[in-house]
Amino acid sequence: MTTQLVTGIGLLVTNDAAWETGPLGELRDAALVLDGDRVAWVGPAAQAPDADERVDVGGRCVIPGFVDSHAHLVFAGDRAEEFSARMAGRPYTAGGIATTVAATRAADDATLAAGLRRLVEEMRRQGTTTVEVKSGYGLTVVDEQRALRLAAEVTSETTFLGAHVTPPEYEGRSDDYVALVIGDMLRACAPFARWIDVFCDRGAFDADQARAVLQAGAAAGLGLRIHANQLGHGPGVQLACELGAAAADHLTYLSDADVEALAGSGVVATLLPGVEFSTRSPYPDGRRLLDAGVTVALATDCNPGSSFTSSLPFCVALAVREMRLTPAEALHAATAGGALALRRDDVGALRVGTRADLVVLDAPSYVHLAYRPGVPLVARVCRGGVWGS
Ligand code: NIG
Ligand code: FE
Repeated sequence: MTTQLVTGIGLLVTNDAAWETGPLGELRDAALVLDGDRVAWVGPAAQAPDADERVDVGGRCVIPGFVDSHAHLVFAGDRAEEFSARMAGRPYTAGGIATTVAATRAADDATLAAGLRRLVEEMRRQGTTTVEVKSGYGLTVVDEQRALRLAAEVTSETTFLGAHVTPPEYEGRSDDYVALVIGDMLRACAPFARWIDVFCDRGAFDADQARAVLQAGAAAGLGLRIHANQLGHGPGVQLACELGAAAADHLTYLSDADVEALAGSGVVATLLPGVEFSTRSPYPDGRRLLDAGVTVALATDCNPGSSFTSSLPFCVALAVREMRLTPAEALHAATAGGALALRRDDVGALRVGTRADLVVLDAPSYVHLAYRPGVPLVARVCRGGVWGS
């Protein structure tokens, strides 16, 4: 296997506490050796061993590839008009999901696959090297299974979200729809999914329905995630803690009891600032979560309704400005935090044995991700040892 020496790294973020240089494990004037798709050596450039090939990044900052642990990328259609209406004062509700469900059901496989690949590529160009992809815009056995089959072609982090909302044909019969989700739909989808998710909120599913969905998923061998407390205070966070979910996502509305329950629960709090941006909602206080000792992840929630951004750099900038995270905390949340939310120890950090997923920033420091918002700072992306453009 070919080895590569990546050198000329002015500042390297490893997220490896073993370096004892703060939570990001920062190293100055560093080098990396990649062996095939893995990191084989990390340390000061002056001590770097030789390798077959050499990549000089010219003094730039290198960070682990972003880990986007929450995205809805299998869909058809466009909801720009709904966004415009919101910016003119209309509130966001879960009801808009039905528009995308109709367009997605009507689309052929090739159209859905092309849209999915386009978004994964768009993410990659912005430094995302691991992405989770949910179903949830099919809401029939066949359409949910199709979404997961397509998602599994681009990532191993696939999530069954049949319990996104009750589809129109089940209107007024949400318990019947939940019975379908935890019965035939789960049986058809579980072979293509690693995770199960449920939207537990106003206009979606209540605590009992969400519990039934997550317990059925767990019994089918899937890990648990939840859309919680996006549209108002509710039972989602407590349910995530009760059932030991890997992550509770959104958390726009958090009570003192929610923060207390999250602290020490092992549930990763995934903040999605693109949603608050795109729905004109209040930003949750990320600082408060961190100060309480909660593990925080940042993700895009890329979807055509509530957050049509594929950019984790944009989310990092928003989290710093609007959620009171420091630039270092925000970068950690978008890399190591995302990895924890997906229960992965092979991504989100650069240490011997992790995947060779790294991003070269056209900047001397990762602070520029928030300091220079909106500027395309991702100069090069290496995924599994292979460099993109
Ligand atoms: O994560 N909250 C539920 N689901 C998506 C939004 C989906 C949509 O509006 O199409 C979310 O925000
Ligand atoms: Fe979502």
